[in-house]
Amino acid sequence: MKIDILSAVPQLMDSFFSHSILKRAQEKGLVELKVHNIRDYTNYKHGQIDDYQFGGGAGLVLMIEPIVNAIESLQKATIYDEIIFMTPDGDLFDQKTANQLSLKKNLLIICGHYKGIDQRIRDHFVTKEISIGEYVLSGGELGAAVVTDAVCRLLPGVLNDETSALFDSFQDGLLAPPVYTRPEEFRGWKVPDVLLSGNHARIEEWRHEMSVKRTEERAKSDER
Ligand code: ADE
Repeated sequence: MKIDILSAVPQLMDSFFSHSILKRAQEKGLVELKVHNIRDYTNYKHGQIDDYQFGGGAGLVLMIEPIVNAIESLQKATIYDEIIFMTPDGDLFDQKTANQLSLKKNLLIICGHYKGIDQRIRDHFVTKEISIGEYVLSGGELGAAVVTDAVCRLLPGVLNDETSALFDSFQDGLLAPPVYTRPEEFRGWKVPDVLLSGNHARIEEWRHEMSVKRTEERAKSDER
């Protein structure tokens, strides 16, 4: 899979992509991640990529030409399955969307900044608009990092134990059960006996019960 990201502040994403699971996934050749600087595609003086909005109002808007130059230049090398725009008014990102995107071959993610991007880019190029939550961030970069992480960990071979993504919270509509590691007791707080019992059937039953309980509790607190 290949994910290209268009950003006005590509440095924000470098560190995120060069550590841990995403780093290993790239090293193993399972995913190709590239962040492209929108500024590299502008023909305006001084690397300008944003301007005041027509009709007045506070805040700068990313201009159409640099972004279209970038999209069309990248499209010469790659056919994208989706061109995604990260925006607080997009569809709320969830595990189902992550699963769907993980089946695609090539994705292009556009990060907005300031007041957003010229609407004509959304109208004529973007195929999917994604929000990572009902709050406004200063740019789409954190959202693009969230989507990239959630999608890449689902690619076969990315996680060491391939089955582990299948047992993630949300994959079967249930939240994951609690997990424990050594020591068995810390300040009198004990690991549940069942996990130390060696009885795998009982352990699986307990884990399922805990998943159901967590999911119900979460549903109740969402209602409040
Ligand atoms: N850009 C700004 N806020 C955002 C959000 N909540 N989700 C995705 N992209 C954004």
